[in-house]
Amino acid sequence: MARDKITIVGAGKVGATTAHIAATKQLGDIVLLDIIEGLAEGKALDIAAAGPIQLYDSVISGTRDWEKTADSNIVIITSGVPRGPGMSRDDLLTKNIQIVKDVSEQIARHCPESIIIVVCNPLDAMVYAAAKVTGFTKNKIMGMAGALDSARFSYFLASELGVNVEDIKCVLMGGHGDDMVPLPRFTSVSGIPVTELLDEDKIAELIERTRKGGIEIVNLLGCSAYYAPAAGTVKMVEAILKDKKTVMSCCAYCDSEYDAGGYFVGVPVVLGKNAIEKIIELDLNESEQAQFEKSLTHVKQLVVKVDKLL
Ligand code: 2OP
Repeated sequence: MARDKITIVGAGKVGATTAHIAATKQLGDIVLLDIIEGLAEGKALDIAAAGPIQLYDSVISGTRDWEKTADSNIVIITSGVPRGPGMSRDDLLTKNIQIVKDVSEQIARHCPESIIIVVCNPLDAMVYAAAKVTGFTKNKIMGMAGALDSARFSYFLASELGVNVEDIKCVLMGGHGDDMVPLPRFTSVSGIPVTELLDEDKIAELIERTRKGGIEIVNLLGCSAYYAPAAGTVKMVEAILKDKKTVMSCCAYCDSEYDAGGYFVGVPVVLGKNAIEKIIELDLNESEQAQFEKSLTHVKQLVVKVDKLL
């Protein structure tokens, strides 16, 4: 049986780390592609050389040639300019839209049957751009943000409570911006609602830290995060390639769902071999719905800008 093939576009920190984690999990053969001469080839060679030590046998190749990506099951778009200090994700739109447009055209040409996971920012707008340019079925295009933001929220909660991170299950909705919507009412510690374990003020403090989780890293490193974004991306790849029916938050196309009206935005979904197999519709209360609508309005404003540039 042919092995699954994963193409990762962009061999920067997020792309290369995604390749390494995917290799350690032996999710398939990996093509790392970048326009910078030598970058993808060098990183792929280095990751491949770790195989005999970490005991993985994924074939990892680096290239600048889109022909090598043919027949990929999944294509991950990590290419794009990352944030620096003092920048919002939205500041990246004008530059990254051109990159995502070019990459999406290549994906449509070389990997027409693939599932696309977008990782570059501003996330929700870039997913929309990839969908518009490729014209792929909308449930086969998604963005990685919910996995990352949920992981940050889970980590902060576990640290505060002194419990195992594995025991935290949370839901996070909305766009990947400062107005994202972590939902404590749907967050539990091994089934115990987090609202039973922490007071409102502490939860609000951890939500705020989650919302600012990206910029906290940018301010520490001078560049954006990559270990957790890469891990979140691989979780999605694994859910799809292993048909795990994983319930997780990701940026997905919502029309009647949540009355979104045809936008890509963060919602809980079921992820399996058919990509986004289902969007889970929660019965949000008034405050949650208002927060989601505020975040969605922000996404819609970015989409207007994308439409002017595409
Ligand atoms: C983050 O939140 C890079 O947007 C990404 O760290």
